Amino acid sequence: MVFAHRGSSEALPEHTLGAYLRAVDEGADGLECDVRLTRDGHLVCLHDRRLERTSNGRGVVSAHTLAELNRLDFGSWHPQWPDSADDLILDRPGGREAHASVLTLERLLDAALGAGRPIRLLIETKHPTRFGHAVEERLVAVLRRYGLERPGPGPVQVTVMSFSPGALRRLRQLAPELPTVLLMELLPPWLRDGRLPSGIGIAGPGVRLLRNHPRLAERLHNQGNRLYVWTVNTAADVDLVLALGADGIISDRPRFVLDRLGR
Ligand code: G3P
Ligand code: CA
Repeated sequence: MVFAHRGSSEALPEHTLGAYLRAVDEGADGLECDVRLTRDGHLVCLHDRRLERTSNGRGVVSAHTLAELNRLDFGSWHPQWPDSADDLILDRPGGREAHASVLTLERLLDAALGAGRPIRLLIETKHPTRFGHAVEERLVAVLRRYGLERPGPGPVQVTVMSFSPGALRRLRQLAPELPTVLLMELLPPWLRDGRLPSGIGIAGPGVRLLRNHPRLAERLHNQGNRLYVWTVNTAADVDLVLALGADGIISDRPRFVLDRLGR
């Protein structure tokens, strides 16, 4: 499965509706997004703790209300914007502004449900300790409203990811059937012999970790885990993770990966 990391984020500004619609058009199997809480309790799709890199705003995301974020431009920072936003995207409801605005989780869910084909969503909760587990609690509440807190017969399936084993434990308490991914960037001590905290099911190593420790993939698989690898953007890395039997490939360039897979 090929997942678009923050949408088709090489081509278009990350985490915008346009980047996700592009990924759907490009044939990605799924969409990856990070979620953060606004000051007034909305989940928005943003990676950074602060606003500066991807918008014309300043300060910490969680210090702003959704209304304040809605006034910011999340598109112009991107080197190829707006040239890269083809007519297909600009002609969609909302036009250019909608595709350079902050994206709420609800709007992303609506877009996935409206895609007209099955879409897998990989939602990563960011910095869970700052709010206790408020991000996970809010996320499960939203998913419940959509009937997406467990695998179901519908076209959209949700999996939640975190670097924090504690956040995933809280998610399992809140929504025991919701599939989760434990992300890993470095080799944690408990992983040296391939052991994971129990009940994880899907491991999410960074591709750099697998480059340095390729045998880790086999050990994780042998323990019954699936493997979703991020962020796989080069031909060499695609070939590596395919050779290691990755079950999911998370990329800023989903079309490039699909081409490499002959799809
Ligand atoms: O897909 C997992 C990956 O997104 C984790 O790293 O920093 O891009 O959120 P980051
Ligand atoms: Ca992420």
